Amino acid sequence: MSNQRRPLIAGNWKMNGLAAAAATELKALVNEAKGHSAPNCDILICPPATLVREMATITEGSSVDIGGQDCHANESGAHTGDISAEMLKDAGACYCIVGHSERRADHDESNASVKAKAEAAHRGGLIAIVCVGETLAEREGDKTLDIISDQVRNSLPGGATASNTVIAYEPVWAIGTGKTPTPNDVAVVHAHIRKELGALMNDSDQVRVLYGGSVKGSNAEELMAVENVDGALVGGASLKAVDFWPIVATSI
Ligand code: PGA
Repeated sequence: MSNQRRPLIAGNWKMNGLAAAAATELKALVNEAKGHSAPNCDILICPPATLVREMATITEGSSVDIGGQDCHANESGAHTGDISAEMLKDAGACYCIVGHSERRADHDESNASVKAKAEAAHRGGLIAIVCVGETLAEREGDKTLDIISDQVRNSLPGGATASNTVIAYEPVWAIGTGKTPTPNDVAVVHAHIRKELGALMNDSDQVRVLYGGSVKGSNAEELMAVENVDGALVGGASLKAVDFWPIVATSI
């Protein structure tokens, strides 16, 4: 991990969490974080939208931030069921994940729509976490780096800087499967992402590039030690503080 990039350990709760149990877990996390008055990493939880405001109240004054999992490209309007970046910000979020592979697959999100959402996140004052990653068929077809290039070039928001944008590399086949790429495979993709960013941004060497996909306490240290890996985007292992904290602890 590069010294000048501050790691971000982010939890994505996906469609999990009812208020009472979620509050208990988040309070436990905040409590752990309290033991580190000047942490060396940023800590983020992205709960379902229904819990953003309540979770943001719990983390207020702590070193844990709250983010959204998706946002609409528009600020407001006739988009039933959707949520804008401004609404997330209003509820207490500071980040928003965009282009997660589950949304790309379940909601047919294209690179163009991910880019529009990332730009909306910026407009709303949120840091965009732009997700990219290849499917198993793409990896087996030796297309990983081409897919990553296409996603990075076409999903990156206009005006992206290291302060307003984070990239998350999440191989689709590693998400929720318990399978992870080898550290060397991760290194190859992260180096490739940083090279791509170099052609698109002035401060590309400062952009945080997270790894996501079956990160857990037992593999986090090895994955976080890979060159150009600046943190993690964690799904399943972020739901309980007891599982998430050991991952945070690798970077704090
Ligand atoms: P996982 O999910 O940690 O459960 O594999 C990662 C993600 O989808 O962000």
